[in-house]
Amino acid sequence: MSALAERLARQLCESGPMPFSSFMAAALYDADGGYYSATRPRTGREGDFFTSVSVGPVFGRILAGECCGAWERMGRPTRFTVIEAGANDGQLALDVLQWAREERPDFLAALRYQIDEPLESAARRQQETLGEFAGQVSHDALGAAAHGCYLANELLDAIPFRRVRFSRGVWQELHVGWAEGFCWVEKEPKDGALRRRLAWLGEDFPEGYTTEVAPAVASQVRIAADRLEQGYLYFADYGYAAADYYAPHRARGTLRCYRGHRAHEDPFEAVGETDLTAHVDFSLAARAAVEAGCAVMGWVDQARFLTGAAAEMLRGMEGQGRAGSAWQRQFQMLTHPAHLGQKFHFLVLGKGVSALPAPASLGFARPAAVAELLAERFPAS
Ligand SMILES: C[S@@+](CC[C@H](N)C(=O)[O-])C[C@H]1O[C@@H](n2cnc3c(N)ncnc32)[C@H](O)[C@@H]1O
Repeated sequence: MSALAERLARQLCESGPMPFSSFMAAALYDADGGYYSATRPRTGREGDFFTSVSVGPVFGRILAGECCGAWERMGRPTRFTVIEAGANDGQLALDVLQWAREERPDFLAALRYQIDEPLESAARRQQETLGEFAGQVSHDALGAAAHGCYLANELLDAIPFRRVRFSRGVWQELHVGWAEGFCWVEKEPKDGALRRRLAWLGEDFPEGYTTEVAPAVASQVRIAADRLEQGYLYFADYGYAAADYYAPHRARGTLRCYRGHRAHEDPFEAVGETDLTAHVDFSLAARAAVEAGCAVMGWVDQARFLTGAAAEMLRGMEGQGRAGSAWQRQFQMLTHPAHLGQKFHFLVLGKGVSALPAPASLGFARPAAVAELLAERFPAS
């Protein structure tokens, strides 16, 4: 058992069960033993799971082009900030900045890259990765809200969530307890935001139906919205609209644990060495965005998003014979329905940009998808 697991076990013996969100926050983000505080690779072949960023630089280069398009539509301001949250090792930032240096030095001259990172050890790793761009990258979130773009790839699935079970006709919150090992303990839900979401879900569920509710996702979207005065926000993740998320057939919920490219559903295995995630309730995220003053501009699968965003870039590269086999391989992996193309969705938000043309990335988006996302009238706060 890891030192972190021992510490959590002692705490549970002394103080009693804790909500799963607290257990998850410690397992992922404890400064001394949390999954994301360690230095070994988390993503890519050597890590525990693949992300679009770990496929190669193409994902970041397309997003860089998307941000550059936003800069142009916004009138090429002399200072344009890209804020990234969930930056992990800093690779996406590097891909964006390298593209700007190679392809659009005029954009690079305006660009400041700001990383929102709660973990000190991760911030140090990001600074190492981004050493060559030190003058343009900062981790200081203070200051006025920015003009620019906010990027978050696989951030929302990593925000600690609450677990609930429909048990003997009522919703119960699953806490983590200790009985010669970590175990689940049902308790009456007390948290206000959780209770409101459960009241909205209603009681038409089969006995034992287990799922996740993540009020902290709504809070995170509000934090993101406040970071921009004008611009676009992009949340890429796996998830569903609420009606699909809480469909009867998802009776075991979406909690998944990743270690060494093996996925399982036991968050008590190898605590601190395993990534814990859940799919994102995009309806809750979108509703929170609307309440925070954003327009929901699109909700689109990654295949359509990247195809729209990259169309112009690809035309230029093909004309110059630069869309080589590595580029094509990565693009296919990112967009193919059997790989990452359908599993991931982009939630695209706008703030103060309603008078501007829509981003290229939404060129193939289904307009009805936003209405489906916002069909529920549940307030996110
Ligand atoms: C699954 S990883 C993201 C993967 C990465 N974006 C990629 O594409 O390879 C989740 C990241 O979110 C970060 N994170 C968690 N909570 C956060 C928060 N409130 N603000 C910013 N980053 C956060 C973690 O430190 C971790 O780096």
